[in-house]
Amino acid sequence: MSTMIEVKNVSKTFGKGSNINRVLDECCMYVNKGEFVSLMGASGSGKSTLLYLVGGLDRDFEGEITLCGENIVSLNDRKLSKLRLSNLGFVFQFYNLVMNLNVEDNILLPATMNGRKRSELKEELDEILRITGLTEKRKAMPSTLSGGQQQRVSIARALLGNPSVILADEPTGNLDSKATAEIMELFKRLNEEKGITILQVTHSKECADYGTRTITLDNGKMVS
Ligand SMILES: Nc1ncnc2c1ncn2[C@@H]1O[C@H](COP(=O)(O)OP(=O)(O)OP(=O)(O)O)[C@@H](O)[C@H]1O
Ligand SMILES: [Mg+2]
Repeated sequence: MSTMIEVKNVSKTFGKGSNINRVLDECCMYVNKGEFVSLMGASGSGKSTLLYLVGGLDRDFEGEITLCGENIVSLNDRKLSKLRLSNLGFVFQFYNLVMNLNVEDNILLPATMNGRKRSELKEELDEILRITGLTEKRKAMPSTLSGGQQQRVSIARALLGNPSVILADEPTGNLDSKATAEIMELFKRLNEEKGITILQVTHSKECADYGTRTITLDNGKMVS
């Protein structure tokens, strides 16, 4: 089985001198290809920090992180963005949609900003709208959508580009139980049917149970 994400003895501190805060302390974990792993832990335990390090959004840490076989510290900025673009999809608690763009323009935005042509993306877009149940809403503005629908738009945006890994930080943190179940079912389908590896941060045992394995952060270390 191949390893998609490997975190080896990773330490991360914020601040300096007497204000130093050691958030991750020789943290180790891995996620294999095809797994759907839930990362749990108390508020402030460093879950988001770890997710951002894994996603290459912050490279100021000690230790080693390997993503799709590449050591992210040794890559230059251009190679890292390329690795991110072709392999990673991010989903956040706040959907980060552009409010004056409709659903399909939001989904296409990162790809077109990276120089891809709309005309080339048409089939992929249609397929993603279908998977996320947004076909009927493709011309709708975000403000007319429910929270669950908005989160599905942000998942659709993460799916364009066909990522092998999705990193999600409390993707249902803002949603009611019905919308939460819909999003978790969607993740489960993406994992089982498309083979997408998922690492999600969650506070909810119910959400964690949709995954194949749970790991827990405590005091900057993995405890399970
Ligand atoms: N940019 C930053 N500058 C300084 N300290 C930070 C920064 N980001 C996070 N921290 C600190 O790192 C610690 C871990 O934060 P993090 O956001 O990773 O926790 P979390 O486990 O995601 O919590 P939550 O469940 O509330 O989202 C906290 O003590 C936080 O104050
Ligand atoms: Mg967090």
